[in-house]
Amino acid sequence: MAVREILRMGDARLLALTERVKNFGDPLLQALIADMFDTKAATGGVGLAAPQIGVGLQVVVFGVGKSERYPDAEPVPETVLINPIVTPLTDEEDLGWEGCLSVPGLRGEVPRFARVRYRGFDQHGHPIDRTAGGFHARVVQHECDHLIGKLYPMRVRDFRHFGFTEILFPDLPPH
Ligand code: NI
Repeated sequence: MAVREILRMGDARLLALTERVKNFGDPLLQALIADMFDTKAATGGVGLAAPQIGVGLQVVVFGVGKSERYPDAEPVPETVLINPIVTPLTDEEDLGWEGCLSVPGLRGEVPRFARVRYRGFDQHGHPIDRTAGGFHARVVQHECDHLIGKLYPMRVRDFRHFGFTEILFPDLPPH
């Protein structure tokens, strides 16, 4: 399929609410998902949400084995998640560093619920219902935030812990 251009923070399309997917049999949906995986792979990202390539639908993809961008992160299963609902399973929050392909070159420390349940559908319309903690829970919350027009800097509480990747983490790739 194709590697698509990733919209960057400041583009109004990243702030818009998204529509639910209604027709899982639509070949355009399968093409979108293929493009999202191609784009994620080409950029070394851990996840990607449809609005990041200018598509206002509730579709996210995520998953990582070993990430150059997040070398300390535990693996997250390769997942297509459509029309997601994320429910916190605890009030407890974890602080962790995040980056975003739409906010290149920067990292910030973001509070996220430590444990969540997420439900939705895969690319065939089959239900997904999982619980996740740690980095997996963080990735799900980050990606699903894109579907409601939220980028991680909007969740940063302490801007002393926000800055350029190459300054904060000189050993990581700079994107
Ligand atoms: Ni992102």
